[in-house]
Amino acid sequence: MAHVSVRNVSRSFGAHKALDDVSIDFPDGGFYALLGPSGSGKTTLLRLIAGFDFPDEGQIAIDGDSVERVPVEKRRIGMMFQNYALFPNMSVRDNVGFGLSVRGEPRHKMAAEVQAALDLVQLGSLGERRPHQLSGGQRQRVALARAFVTRPRVLLLDEPLSALDKALRVDMQFELKRIQREIGITTIFVTHDQEEALTMSDRIGILRDGRLVQEGPPDETYERPGSAFAATFLGDANICEGIAIEGGIRLANGTEINIEKPVKGCTRCAIRPERIRIATSGAPIPAGDNRLHGTILRRVFAGNIITYFVDCSGLELKVLVQNDGSIQPYINDAVRLHWSKASTVPIVSD
Ligand SMILES: Nc1ncnc2c1ncn2[C@@H]1O[C@H](COP(=O)(O)OP(=O)(O)OP(=O)(O)O)[C@@H](O)[C@H]1O
Ligand SMILES: [Mg+2]
Repeated sequence: MAHVSVRNVSRSFGAHKALDDVSIDFPDGGFYALLGPSGSGKTTLLRLIAGFDFPDEGQIAIDGDSVERVPVEKRRIGMMFQNYALFPNMSVRDNVGFGLSVRGEPRHKMAAEVQAALDLVQLGSLGERRPHQLSGGQRQRVALARAFVTRPRVLLLDEPLSALDKALRVDMQFELKRIQREIGITTIFVTHDQEEALTMSDRIGILRDGRLVQEGPPDETYERPGSAFAATFLGDANICEGIAIEGGIRLANGTEINIEKPVKGCTRCAIRPERIRIATSGAPIPAGDNRLHGTILRRVFAGNIITYFVDCSGLELKVLVQNDGSIQPYINDAVRLHWSKASTVPIVSD
């Protein structure tokens, strides 16, 4: 286990600032998900932590030791990069065992550890194959086994499950989480899949253009996005903009939206699509809820969930409805929408 600390780190490539004054504490034994659009600096940050590259400014320390002063073989970092290069002329078994053999581990011990790692990634019977005889997803799992077989203090994973189909991905998420807990490895995990980030991690950090724009536990990050970007990048949100009034916001069409915890002068708010309800006719709407009349413009059926786009006098809202088998409204139906003030989050930055 190890605590990784990144302090005021910046890294530029020419005129481009890939990382701009980033500070993150990665807790000892924690599972941290790094999210952000393509080019936001995620891989750059992992490379700096691994010590493959050095910051222009700021410090990176593992358990208090600056990575700069620790030689690569002593860092005990397990890595799996986006372009996970396997050794093409080596068998799967030798690829996974490479780090252990460099360390000079006894053969019989090494063989058992490699087999256990291969079993964990469900490749137990493919140890003799060469990388070119594997599918993309199988190669990815070899790289994953290679990263954790040495029982590192820190595991850096750059989109480790991106090549896997949904079912295998869910299996591997479960296994990865289990391995991480069992060995207690501090794990930093880059993913594009927000659901994966939310379900697997203890903390989430969102990068945008090299800056850390939001950080916190998954539920808090989801419930209280600080910016329109964070609200729409992690999950989906309706962003409404107007002028600040007492207790909320007035939109251009005259609609007033009430916010439970308004921020003075704040002119925007976010409402998650799943928080908006379509009122069933006759049923009372809870007192204090925001309420609007609207017409259904579009309907997207996704099996378990139906997404509606509802026009409310010029304000278009996205609404998610669980497909519970009840009769659901259709395009052009007039509906009443409502949602609680508590589900209306003030948005203070872009
Ligand atoms: N060695 C380099 N030389 C020049 N520019 C670089 C170098 N490495 C990264 N960059 C630039 O820095 C920015 C951040 O790159 P990085 O690889 O960290 O993005 P990322 O968040 O990992 O993106 P992705 O999700 O696509 O993998 C990009 O604009 C990239 O082009
Ligand atoms: Mg990357």
